Amino acid sequence: VKGVLAVGTGLGLTIGVHDVTDPSEPEGLDVIVEVRAAGIALPDLLLIDGAYPGVERADRHPVGIEFAGVVADIGDGVTRFSVGDRVCGMVYPPQGAASERLVIAEGDLGRTPSRLTDIQAAALPSAFMTAHCVLFRQGAVRPGERVLVLAGASGLGLACIQLARAAGAEVYAAASAGKLEALEGMGVARALDYAEEGWHESLPELDVIVDPLGGDSFALSYSLLRAGGRLVCLDAITRHPEPGGTDFRREPGDIRFDPIEMLIAAKSVIGVNMPALWEVDGGQGALMEQACGHVERWTIEPVVAATFAIDDVHSAIDYVRQRRNIGRVVLTL
Ligand SMILES: NC(=O)c1ccc[n+]([C@@H]2O[C@H](COP(=O)([O-])OP(=O)(O)OC[C@H]3O[C@@H](n4cnc5c(N)ncnc54)[C@H](OP(=O)(O)O)[C@@H]3O)[C@@H](O)[C@H]2O)c1
Repeated sequence: VKGVLAVGTGLGLTIGVHDVTDPSEPEGLDVIVEVRAAGIALPDLLLIDGAYPGVERADRHPVGIEFAGVVADIGDGVTRFSVGDRVCGMVYPPQGAASERLVIAEGDLGRTPSRLTDIQAAALPSAFMTAHCVLFRQGAVRPGERVLVLAGASGLGLACIQLARAAGAEVYAAASAGKLEALEGMGVARALDYAEEGWHESLPELDVIVDPLGGDSFALSYSLLRAGGRLVCLDAITRHPEPGGTDFRREPGDIRFDPIEMLIAAKSVIGVNMPALWEVDGGQGALMEQACGHVERWTIEPVVAATFAIDDVHSAIDYVRQRRNIGRVVLTL
């Protein structure tokens, strides 16, 4: 079967379609999925570049961590899915989501909401599972609260905006200048260009801030919270000074929080690492059920920025590297 691999490193890195191992006959709880579409996003670039924490970069590195497709075969212990069911979910290396076929445990799979195309469903797993954890499991957003989403036009950012609005929050978002109109179209109270000096000065005090930027941004976000506020930390990419800049190195900075100051201010700083949370929350499938449930209940559609055929994977990766995406870039297989 065909799949996308990143071969080599640094200047010698090539990304293309190769023959990859066909998953063997399914056993026990295995489900074989024929993949129809796979999401490509910033975390894929971190994986390709060997900058993803805790994941060893192999010489022939499989690309893609989220997919949507159809069940092609099942092991004899599988009870929740049948051949032909539409499913979506996430896999990590040594498997890649941008492969024609993959194997996954039935407990890790989600059922694709019936309204969604496979392309939309490939944009769902990472963004909506994480948005669920950020807003509801950890951020405990309540109706009427004010939420600020940084990197608001990312796949995750837009999922947070959609879910927070559906939950009755007043939502603010910040992103690169070229993406503000799209954010306004998503119904945010205000969209701000975070490359502008003093961009945050007109904001009201906030209850929840979703921050994947890290470094100085964590300190700024904390200062924007009102009493009872929650800062949800997701990553430490550094905001590139130039719109369209491709510098996404992790710079955690030396920010420190003082628990005595935090208790006096009644503010919280919360970490979200999705795989760590699904370990304690009954597995990936349980979180996928939550994520797909929100999309069904609130008639939300994941935002697809652009689609590329698998043979054009370079263009998909360049699109993400150049920060052009508003929502999720999707490869079709
Ligand atoms: N902790 C977790 O469990 C978890 C789970 C999922 C995702 N995340 C994190 O959430 C963030 C968004 O993920 P995603 O999958 O939604 O990504 P995505 O759809 O590929 O969007 C990435 C966006 O991030 C923004 N960005 C801000 N600073 C950037 C920089 N220095 N370089 C490149 N892009 C930058 C860009 O939008 P602008 O041009 O508007 O700035 C870019 O379009 C990532 O940092 C990811 O690692 C964390």
